[in-house]
Amino acid sequence: MHSNEILRRRFLAHVGQTSPSPMMTAVERAEGVFFYTPEGKPYYDLVAGVSVSNVGHANPAVVEAIKRQAERYMHVMVYGELLERPQVEYATEIAALLPAPLESVYFVNSGAEAVEGALKLAKRYTARAEMISMRRAYHGSTHGAMSMMGAPEGEEWKNAFRPLLPATKAIDFNDFDQLRQITEKTACVLCEPVQGEAGVREPAPGYLQALRKRCSEVGALLIFDEIQTGMGRTGEMFAMCKYGVTPDIVCLAKAFGGGMPLGAFVSSNEIMGTLTHDPVLGHITTFGGHPVCCAAGLAALRYLLEHNTVAEVERKGALYEELLVGHPQVCEIRRSGLLLAIELGSSEKMFRMMEMFAEDGIMSDWFLYCDTAFRISPPLVISDDEIRDSAAIVRRCLDRL
Ligand SMILES: Cc1ncc(COP(=O)(O)O)c(C=O)c1O
Repeated sequence: MHSNEILRRRFLAHVGQTSPSPMMTAVERAEGVFFYTPEGKPYYDLVAGVSVSNVGHANPAVVEAIKRQAERYMHVMVYGELLERPQVEYATEIAALLPAPLESVYFVNSGAEAVEGALKLAKRYTARAEMISMRRAYHGSTHGAMSMMGAPEGEEWKNAFRPLLPATKAIDFNDFDQLRQITEKTACVLCEPVQGEAGVREPAPGYLQALRKRCSEVGALLIFDEIQTGMGRTGEMFAMCKYGVTPDIVCLAKAFGGGMPLGAFVSSNEIMGTLTHDPVLGHITTFGGHPVCCAAGLAALRYLLEHNTVAEVERKGALYEELLVGHPQVCEIRRSGLLLAIELGSSEKMFRMMEMFAEDGIMSDWFLYCDTAFRISPPLVISDDEIRDSAAIVRRCLDRL
């Protein structure tokens, strides 16, 4: 039997599945903005592992950092006990880039764990129970993060796993009036500064400022989920910098690990300090801040800074938009930096595009709460020629719709 066929059968038999219809394209290697099948067919990666591979696949600076750290030491002791240089250096450099007082970085393994840690920290610091999220928000798949999926779209997932966390409620993103629902009972409000899985929805002018003001008035902590928007995706290192609003806690993951699994929640020393006592070990993790993942994340961050990559993101995103806007099949393009939702107005059309993309060497995806639009969120290092070439393939697929 052909080795690809054996791989497919074993994948279906022994690898836990997330849907009845996985893509099942075999990956042999990846480099820059491409991945390749065992037969050598290239795919333009316009998903970047869902906003993970911002510095491109197999970025030599990241690969070298991983090798060097793996040779020195990998896992030594549970997180938070020993002085591990990759953690300390990465925390220091991230804190220097974030606005004050975001200075204390608690490393974890993933986005969902960063959200869990942030929610627990807010409850612990405020001694309040109520937690508010935004409708059409996605924050992860663990029980706590899933409890914060915004109704009504999130209900389909939540209903299958109840009971979830009590004392959670959702308000509409960009609805100024509903900010009044944030009260002295509220421990925290969790919000993506730009909603990703809702299909790329930017905040209305003044909304994040009004949200910040309301949280401060009632003593609720504001948590930004920058898991998808952080590390340059929206054209600033963090989306919060675009809007000039500083949360009390920010969650990071995805591109934060440079392609390795790493997350963090970041706050002030004053707020973070509450996790060290009453009880001690209030949030613990074995692998959080793994030294190899921190070395990879730090190398990726330094790459972004040294190559001035983030400064180019807005221009590159605008170029994609310019190349696709006006096509008769495109109803709307919603965009923040290099995070684009190409709206087709119909899920049938979107799924037909996915089939054509698979044939023509494009890796794209739709959004959890928006299957009428497809995603373009390539590695931030994509060149202008690669943008033009991949946009031409997308246009040819649109022509055939
Ligand atoms: C905004 C946002 N928050 C949280 C998560 C969850 O991250 P993870 O899959 O690493 O748990 C995601 C993942 O897509 C996300 O987009």
